[in-house]
Amino acid sequence: MEDIRQAVERAKAELGSHGAPRFGTTSNRPRHDAPTERKTPLRQVTLESSFLQSRRIVAHDGMDPRSLTFDILRTEVLRSMDFKGWKTLAITSPTPGCGKTFLSINLSLSMAREPERQVSLVDFDLRRPQIARTLGLKGGDGVIDVLEGRKDPDEATINVRVGSSNLEVMPTTSGSNASDLVSSSATKQFLDGLSRRGQAQIVVIDLPPLLTGHDVISVLPHVDCVLLVAAVGTSKVSEIEQCKKYLQATDMVRFVLNKAPSGTAHGYYY
Ligand SMILES: Nc1ncnc2c1ncn2[C@@H]1O[C@H](COP(=O)(O)OP(=O)(O)OP(=O)(O)O)[C@@H](O)[C@H]1O
Ligand SMILES: [Mg+2]
Repeated sequence: MEDIRQAVERAKAELGSHGAPRFGTTSNRPRHDAPTERKTPLRQVTLESSFLQSRRIVAHDGMDPRSLTFDILRTEVLRSMDFKGWKTLAITSPTPGCGKTFLSINLSLSMAREPERQVSLVDFDLRRPQIARTLGLKGGDGVIDVLEGRKDPDEATINVRVGSSNLEVMPTTSGSNASDLVSSSATKQFLDGLSRRGQAQIVVIDLPPLLTGHDVISVLPHVDCVLLVAAVGTSKVSEIEQCKKYLQATDMVRFVLNKAPSGTAHGYYY
């Protein structure tokens, strides 16, 4: 298997020949891309708070004390992203089950309570997508449809309202050819398009685990920054160290230790 670091370097080099790479010093420059026009009105869905709470999704309700952890993380992450002019935040973990989807959804809902923000949540785990199931969203293949050319991004996006959050969600179903799709030019075009959605837009991308395949490596050159989640009782120090090594070329905005005994997520500065 190709070394993950080499793969990141290779992807950087490839990207560099087509446009400005988003790593290191160049990624620190704020970008001022024009907002993309909407081609299709978004499908609207209102979600039940009680259903979400049964799935540990709470951050749409700012009065719920459990949302405080996500609100603090939101403030820290957005401060860094705004300062650098970053728009796309990818969430990954060393191995499965650390809480990427749990954190992606709660963090997005917390961000989406800020009225001046437009927040999009994208399920880019094309092997084990969980966002639609967790939110109880039905219908449409979402990201897969866009990558395979059946829909444009607006047709694949659902405007989700719950509590005081107004969130755009692009779910997906799993793809039988996920490996090929993730490294395709359609994926590059799709991910690059996400970051050109206007100044107020923040895009949160729920990814697969970093150490179990090549998918994350293909995605990294096309996102502005990464949040790494590890879980108490699941993640080994050696795995976290391995991830840090692989992410050296990418801006890591936060490291979060999830599933701590108190049941809350804790963020640490890197
Ligand atoms: N802080 C937490 N406390 C308790 N349970 C949690 C916490 N975070 C996540 N979970 C639960 O752990 C399980 C795995 O979480 P989640 O699906 O978010 O992980 P994941 O990293 O996205 O997994 P995968 O790698 O399969 O995509 C879910 O049942 C989720 O509700
Ligand atoms: Mg997940």
